[in-house]
Amino acid sequence: MSVDQDARSSTSSPDRSTVKVWDGPTRLFHWSLVILIALSYVTRKVSPDLVWHMRIGYAILVLITFRVLWGFVGSSTSRFGSFAYAPWTAIRYGIDFVLRRPRPFLGHNPLGGTVVFIFLALIAAQGLTGLFSYDDHTDLHGGPLASKISEAAVAAATRWHVWLFDILLIVIALHILASFAYAFWKREDLVRPMVTGTKRSAPFEDQAEARIASPLLALLCLVLAVAIVLGGITLAGGRIG
Ligand code: HEM
Ligand code: HEM
Repeated sequence: MSVDQDARSSTSSPDRSTVKVWDGPTRLFHWSLVILIALSYVTRKVSPDLVWHMRIGYAILVLITFRVLWGFVGSSTSRFGSFAYAPWTAIRYGIDFVLRRPRPFLGHNPLGGTVVFIFLALIAAQGLTGLFSYDDHTDLHGGPLASKISEAAVAAATRWHVWLFDILLIVIALHILASFAYAFWKREDLVRPMVTGTKRSAPFEDQAEARIASPLLALLCLVLAVAIVLGGITLAGGRIG
């Protein structure tokens, strides 16, 4: 709806050989997520008090909710519709990757797109189980909704909260390895575009250049995400400390 039709396309890029790929909100989302996930682990491990761990957890839930909204109304490369592929398409892309067949994509390629969905679901599940988890080490306190469910359900949520983090670590490790594999195997730097927002122009299979959505729309999504997370917890009877 408010995606700017990018009539200026190549002339608005820093130079004629680069095109826009990731908008500012998506890049900010990515690097904030990296920092917050690291902090969620560090705060949990260095302090017996869960206050900061939970605050960071709420912030991660807000980020994920924001990304879900942005996936429907954001820039063309950030929209879910632009990287939702059938499993077979993702597998075929994986085979082409191993065989080093050139398959340039501007946004997420079919395999990478599938990993993005897995990532978002995994981190959302991590945050949601956290809301119902209880600290079984120091007995200090737990998530804001832990008192709303049975003891057995709290124990299960806590177990899943711990397990999911191990799964998340494996996916993160594969994700970082994949970025290096692209750099060394395909001689394609995917990391720089996640920083600068631009990519070298190529005959991309998906789209020629990103249509960038309004930053105001991103701000609206962020406000809505805060309302959904904090409002949702409060409506469910939880107290955010
Ligand atoms: C906590 C660690 C990390 C998490 C949870 C994470 C998660 C994600 C997610 C969810 C996306 C999709 C972005 C979107 O469309 O919104 C993404 C993309 C990306 N991430 Fe990460 N990431 C992590 C660390 C890193 C690191 C350390 C690097 C750099 C080595 C990196 C490089 C990239 C790149 C290059 C893309 C874009 C891939 C493409 O071109 O399709 N990520 N990551
Ligand atoms: C979404 C991002 C989150 C991540 C990555 C994360 C990660 C972690 C990790 C690594 C632990 C330590 C597990 C262990 O002891 O081995 C932990 C424990 C815990 N987290 Fe989270 N967490 C997140 C969100 C939340 C949220 C939103 C809450 C509640 C508001 C929460 C509440 C708890 C509680 C109560 C524990 C103690 C459970 C225990 O160690 O036995 N977490 N979390």
